[in-house]
Amino acid sequence: MTGIKAITALLGATAITAGAAFAEPVEDTLTVNEEIEMTTWTEPSATVEDALPEVISGWHFRGDETRAMQADDFDNPGMIFVEQAMDDWETAEGEAGKSCASCHGDVADSMKGVRAVYPKWNEEAGEVRTMEMQVNACREDNMKAEPLKYTGGAMARMVALISSVSRGMPVNVATDGPVAETWEQGKELYYTRTGQLELSCANCHEDNYGRMIRADHLSQGQINGFPVYRLKNTKLNTVHARFKGCVRDTRAETYKPGSPEFVALELYVASRGNGLSVEGPSVRN
Ligand code: HEC
Ligand code: HEC
Repeated sequence: MTGIKAITALLGATAITAGAAFAEPVEDTLTVNEEIEMTTWTEPSATVEDALPEVISGWHFRGDETRAMQADDFDNPGMIFVEQAMDDWETAEGEAGKSCASCHGDVADSMKGVRAVYPKWNEEAGEVRTMEMQVNACREDNMKAEPLKYTGGAMARMVALISSVSRGMPVNVATDGPVAETWEQGKELYYTRTGQLELSCANCHEDNYGRMIRADHLSQGQINGFPVYRLKNTKLNTVHARFKGCVRDTRAETYKPGSPEFVALELYVASRGNGLSVEGPSVRN
């Protein structure tokens, strides 16, 4: 099956642009705890203005109840995991006998703004690091502790905690300088058709956002809300686990969570959301 036919079949229509049910993203504004004003719909940054006329958070594509859950920390199930991570933050582990707090102190002070610029270049290691990679680098090098599983629960909640203290701040990942090559690689992956269905990320999230795919309202596939609490599996989901799921839906097996390819893809996808607020942990279905 070719890509065009596949997407037509998935969208249940006879042509890509005509027929498939389309629903405008919901017009609404998100203020969390009546305090944090979120930018959820904005102009594209210069690097992606050819690709997207507007940049829209996945929040606008979800139903009324799901959107409401994210507006208050008491209703956001993702925040339960953030609280658990606060305990982890204070817990000494590993041979150095240190906790995250031993070096970084209060998480809200030391980590404010950090999530907004990840993935980012690490000069000493000479590599692009995702937040997950940085957490494990601190565990292994600074705590002499075992790394956490890349897409596991303990990792997801630590990243959620670090994200939560940057909520409302604009995503602002660098795309040039030492990360330029990785960014280009991620861009290429984004537009590469994979699997039996021969679909690229762009075929769904750029060409067809707004359309209904099965029972789902297709978004731009932004990652400013990660980690995401999904009602479907009632847990926090990491970026790479989501990528893996989407690739699997094209009936392909491509890259592993934590692989250089998914790191590059994450950098590129993050940059498509530059200007949106950090929302993690967000709520999705
Ligand atoms: C022995 C001290 C030490 C411990 C323990 C430690 N870190 Fe770090 N961490 C550092 C240093 C040093 C850096 C690099 C300099 C900086 O950015 O603060 C760093 C950087 C970071 C960064 C990136 C900051 C940025 O601006 O890019 C994150 C995120 C982070 N650590 C998270 C953690 C977490 C989570 C834990 C616990 C699992 C932890 N660290 C434990 C010393 C430590
Ligand atoms: C066959 C269509 C299809 C393809 C191809 C596809 N996705 Fe998705 N993706 C979906 C659907 C459906 C959802 C759930 C509804 C939504 O949020 O858009 C989703 C959700 C997502 C989300 C979650 C967004 C949020 O706000 O929680 C991300 C991130 C994502 N996709 C990234 C990707 C990436 C990266 C690729 C390429 C590797 C990709 N997708 C390929 C259909 C697709």
